[in-house]
Amino acid sequence: MLEHIFSRARDMRKMVEQDGGNDLLKGRIVACLFYEPSTRTSSSFIAAMERLGGQVIPITQGVQFSSVTKGESLEDTIRTLEQYADVIVLRHPDIGSATRAAHAADIPIINAGDGAGEHPTQALLDLFTIQDELGTVDNLKIAMVGDLRFGRTVHSLTKLLTLFDVSLRYVSPDILRIPMNILNPVIDAGIDVRETNDVSEVIEQCDVLYVTRVQKERFTDMTEYDGVKSYYEITPELMQRAKDKMIVMHPLPRVGEISEAVDDDPRAAYFRQVKNGMFIRMALLAEVLGR
Ligand code: NCD
Repeated sequence: MLEHIFSRARDMRKMVEQDGGNDLLKGRIVACLFYEPSTRTSSSFIAAMERLGGQVIPITQGVQFSSVTKGESLEDTIRTLEQYADVIVLRHPDIGSATRAAHAADIPIINAGDGAGEHPTQALLDLFTIQDELGTVDNLKIAMVGDLRFGRTVHSLTKLLTLFDVSLRYVSPDILRIPMNILNPVIDAGIDVRETNDVSEVIEQCDVLYVTRVQKERFTDMTEYDGVKSYYEITPELMQRAKDKMIVMHPLPRVGEISEAVDDDPRAAYFRQVKNGMFIRMALLAEVLGR
């Protein structure tokens, strides 16, 4: 299944490079319902749908202008949008919200982030990027750095990576360690895994350095956030110690975890990663709409 989606994503890339777009999803509508801020996820789904000739109901800027502010339940909003659309892309602050929406709906729901829970389409584009950049996923040492507790992209990527023969290194301050319910299946899968709070311990050996932002919006105690917000910064000096063939990834937005001076390093893959997001979402939309 993964290879099928990745191969479709590569076809989408070729098609966009040659023709810019086509009519595969002409007559189809996606509703993008975003209760949390987004730049990449929302615009890549919109661009994906439009490049395939489909159309979008965008509720991405202004849930505050929708009936949500009148107190409408998630279920009722979903049951309404499915009267108009063929698929709903949902981002919502509550863990489990996508599952709730899927129970309420008769049309496909794509989870675009449920609070500190999961972000499965990001994990697909992350894995696709690793394979695209390094040619394989197996036998790689992958280090995830930053907010592993609230960072939903880390949770979903971890689940996908347990399907491969990888080594995992989790680098975070103590209060932002990877949750046990995410770590335990990794251990059960027999994967070589270690936790540390020091990037120095992983920089020389890792093939992928996956950096994340400290998720300010999930903290209830802002002094706790202030204590960890500037814990890491990937700099050109640190990159000098890394392998020649490795990549730095980030789901973005970054707020200081990677110095802008790293952007010109060919190993900085985060903007290529962004572009892959559109191709993966084109493939996913085509799949869920049966085209
Ligand atoms: C991430 C998210 O929303 O979880 N961004 C994204 O979708 N590319 C990461 C983040 O917000 O830090």
